Amino acid sequence: MAFSVLHLLALYLIVQPFCVHAAQTANISLGLSLTASDNSLSWQSPSGEFAFGFRRIGDQDLFLLAIWYDKIPEKTLVWYANGDNPTPKGSKVELTKDGNFRLTGPRKEEIWPQPVISGVAYAAMLDSGNFVLADQNSALLWQSFKDPRDTILPTQVLEIGEKLSSRQTASNYSKGKFQLQFKPDGTLELYPIALPTEFEYDAYYKSNTSDAADKLNSGYQLVFNESGHINIVLRNGNIVTLTNKTVSPSRDYYYRATLDFDGLFTLYAYPKKGAGHPGPLCGLSQKTFASPSIQLERRAAGHVDITVTADLMQTQGQFVIAFLAFLL
Ligand SMILES: *[C@@H]1O[C@H](CO)[C@@H](O)[C@H](O)[C@H]1NC(C)=O
Ligand SMILES: *[C@@H]1O[C@H](CO)[C@@H](O)[C@H](O)[C@H]1NC(C)=O
Ligand SMILES: *[C@@H]1O[C@H](CO)[C@@H](O)[C@H](O)[C@H]1NC(C)=O
Ligand SMILES: *[C@@H]1O[C@H](CO)[C@@H](O)[C@H](O)[C@H]1NC(C)=O
Ligand SMILES: *[C@@H]1O[C@H](CO)[C@@H](O)[C@H](O)[C@H]1NC(C)=O
Repeated sequence: MAFSVLHLLALYLIVQPFCVHAAQTANISLGLSLTASDNSLSWQSPSGEFAFGFRRIGDQDLFLLAIWYDKIPEKTLVWYANGDNPTPKGSKVELTKDGNFRLTGPRKEEIWPQPVISGVAYAAMLDSGNFVLADQNSALLWQSFKDPRDTILPTQVLEIGEKLSSRQTASNYSKGKFQLQFKPDGTLELYPIALPTEFEYDAYYKSNTSDAADKLNSGYQLVFNESGHINIVLRNGNIVTLTNKTVSPSRDYYYRATLDFDGLFTLYAYPKKGAGHPGPLCGLSQKTFASPSIQLERRAAGHVDITVTADLMQTQGQFVIAFLAFLL
């Protein structure tokens, strides 16, 4: 029952730099907080590329505590705390004077995390996109890279047993129908789940990286490396790459890999300001995933749609066709 899953790469150009309200803090110290509102502040990484704070969901009066790419106009979310429980205006995330880190609703009810993380000396939004909570010895008590949602970023590693969960829909961040897990035998698997039980159905993608005869030849880490490659590292140090080509040097692109709500595990690249044209896009394909056929269609007024018409993916008897369209 293994079917191919698509690995798609889409990219689009930055239009404009975007003006934001943000405090460029290296370390977030005790006693600081952020309150959810339309013009709430955020905590930026030193480079200004990532920010941590509240984002409104669509046109609803609800907010997610999130991390996003702050220099991309769309403010693409790469992590969210409370996808299953978005909170209204007036919610607050704080690092209390006595070292507790928590998100509370407008009536001071505790929303996330459960239990509250205590013993925190400072927090930091790092340039990698990892938001960390550290104790007084700078030992990490919690980090967003070790509590992923649907996305991983360059330098992030998934260990055995760790997983990503898709969201419900593009605009609903509740836990959705698909998961990606690095299984104990060293196989990377994508599979649908039943909600709310999270019963795992048969995988629709399995990496061929488990070797029962020779455990050293089995996968042990999924590494999204700095060059924008996603690799399975085997216990013997060998590497099986899922992405055998990248578009361009990672210094020119923002990357993320997301388990999309439709079950596609997708690598996205977004040119940083001033980077070149998306020429080599069509060259991206890879060994373990079916190669999508990618068409670039020029539209009027500077709009380019990147339409990916891909192979059919079969999931629980249903055919899903992927169409991605991004505007410049
Ligand atoms: C953040 O705080 C820790 C502990 O006090 C310190 O070691 C580190 O240098 C600080 N980082 C920055 C960028 O200020
Ligand atoms: C998201 O979808 C779930 C499940 O369908 C639903 O219970 C929830 O209310 C939705 N969330 C929002 C913010 O619309
Ligand atoms: C899995 O990988 C092994 C070598 O590591 C290879 O011999 C085998 O043919 C592969 N199986 C599939 C289904 O690709
Ligand atoms: C990332 O992985 C690719 C493919 O395995 C490899 O060619 C490249 O050297 C790696 N980059 C870094 C920075 O490790
Ligand atoms: C890389 O992808 C191309 C195109 O799908 C394929 O022909 C080639 O064999 C792949 N190379 C490796 C090393 O997997």
